[in-house]
Amino acid sequence: MSTKVEKMVEFKITRFNPDNRKSYISTFKVPIRKGTTILDSLLYIKDNLDETLTFRHSCRMGICGSCAVNINGQPMLACYTQVLQLNADSLTIEPIANLPVIKDLVVDIQPFFEQYKKTTNILIKPEQEFKKTDQFVQSPAELKKFWDLTLCIKCSICYSACPAAIDEKFLGPESLTANYRFVADSRDQGCPGRLKPMADNIWLCTQCNSCTLFCPKLVGCANAIVDDHSLLVEAGALPKTVIDVLERVYKYHNPMGTHQSKRMDWARDLTVKAYPAATKADVLFFVCCSDVYDLRNQEVARAMVQMFNKLGTDFATLGAEEWCCGDHMLRLGEKGLFEELAKHNIEMFKKFNSNKIVTLSPHCYNTFKNDKPYADEKLNVQHYTEYLADAVKQGRIKPVKSVKRKVAYHDPCFLGKRNEVYDAPRQVLQAIPGLQIVEMKRTRQSSFCCGGGAGRVWTEDAQPEKRPCVSRVKEALALGVDTIAVACPYCVTTLEDAVKVLDVENKIAVKDVLELLKESV
Ligand code: SF4
Ligand code: SF4
Ligand code: FES
Repeated sequence: MSTKVEKMVEFKITRFNPDNRKSYISTFKVPIRKGTTILDSLLYIKDNLDETLTFRHSCRMGICGSCAVNINGQPMLACYTQVLQLNADSLTIEPIANLPVIKDLVVDIQPFFEQYKKTTNILIKPEQEFKKTDQFVQSPAELKKFWDLTLCIKCSICYSACPAAIDEKFLGPESLTANYRFVADSRDQGCPGRLKPMADNIWLCTQCNSCTLFCPKLVGCANAIVDDHSLLVEAGALPKTVIDVLERVYKYHNPMGTHQSKRMDWARDLTVKAYPAATKADVLFFVCCSDVYDLRNQEVARAMVQMFNKLGTDFATLGAEEWCCGDHMLRLGEKGLFEELAKHNIEMFKKFNSNKIVTLSPHCYNTFKNDKPYADEKLNVQHYTEYLADAVKQGRIKPVKSVKRKVAYHDPCFLGKRNEVYDAPRQVLQAIPGLQIVEMKRTRQSSFCCGGGAGRVWTEDAQPEKRPCVSRVKEALALGVDTIAVACPYCVTTLEDAVKVLDVENKIAVKDVLELLKESV
């Protein structure tokens, strides 16, 4: 490590004294050289400034998994993280979440391992198979199916970042991934038994992607959980709540059903061009099945139509031929039905001549951009917040009326964590006069999921205190805001439910960014 001190960085460390059970914050200034890690800094503090500071570490090289802490709200390995790369003069260091704190930065990791022990993490096959000499022979292709999932170092970072893990019933990202790692292993024959421990709780996963985003070893937990879902779908081992979601989404798109008239209810009083009367427009507005069928979200769809009209945009919808993007189907493991929906929509995108697709929902947006077969089409797709942020920047839309609200913006996972769209919604809000905007404590990449993804918006059965949306509304209330701004139909539904559960309708409202913009133009 270089001897030259590049800068002094302030460390604000959350401490916990187990004797009086009190938390407090200690602040230290640490000299930072090229290559200084967070762990080096903590050791510097202990050696030179405060010998009572307590934290855990061992290998100092990203292998033992013991040194995870929250750095500026994000869980990371202290030994793996260089201070200069964080590009900050001040850092907050806290213990990781979802595990009880023992002292200062040391958490009790036992609950994480208790979940892990509920799955069988050795090969399962008949006794005589183990005696065969060729028992471990695998082709490179067979090895590739699970190899990346073996790189886990049991640091519990994914567990600490997981909104579903606030319900102790949930096995957690790593255990579910380890379970799939063995199912995907050609040497293993334990699949039916491996489905049992996860069958009743895996559906609590919202597919927020935090586990994958923060894993220091790039283990793709979120996708492995989708593969677990698929196994359960194939085995027909689905709880009724999940069957209801799958049926609900599919019945919307049954061409023999009664959905066609409903599809245009949201557009009543508005003149919206739709396929087949219209076969081309500059913008194809993809509305999202939630916005079509949910009365509350129809208001948001109408607000977007009004914005298009104000902007003079040449736009149209697919009308009855817009089928669900299939996001929920895919995340719940119903890959066959997802492909059926995707095939239809892609066919319609080809029939309809437009320059770009604008979606209301981050879920449609993410699926069109990132999930095959949509992704293969390289569709020109924008989320509505991106479309409107451009219009605001170009001066084509001018919010003028003052909107007197104190607002915290909640980043939807499928827009933020999955697509890094953090600024566009904020730019729209910042353009509205009168709005006082404050940031949530857990914001942008560290945002805390509303709990609505992967069909959970329609399957909520957890007790109120174990619902991510309730935790999120409490966080907003603590900030003293009167409005939570969102940019996703599922966030509207889940957070409004939480407001009702907490009986705080007179204190806080949930508004889509579009609704706030509409109040101002
Ligand atoms: S999957 Fe990644 S984040 Fe989770 S315990 Fe393993 S290494 Fe840590
Ligand atoms: S995708 Fe989100 S909810 Fe699902 S296991 Fe990962 S962190 Fe938890
Ligand atoms: S000290 Fe071992 S992973 Fe950081």
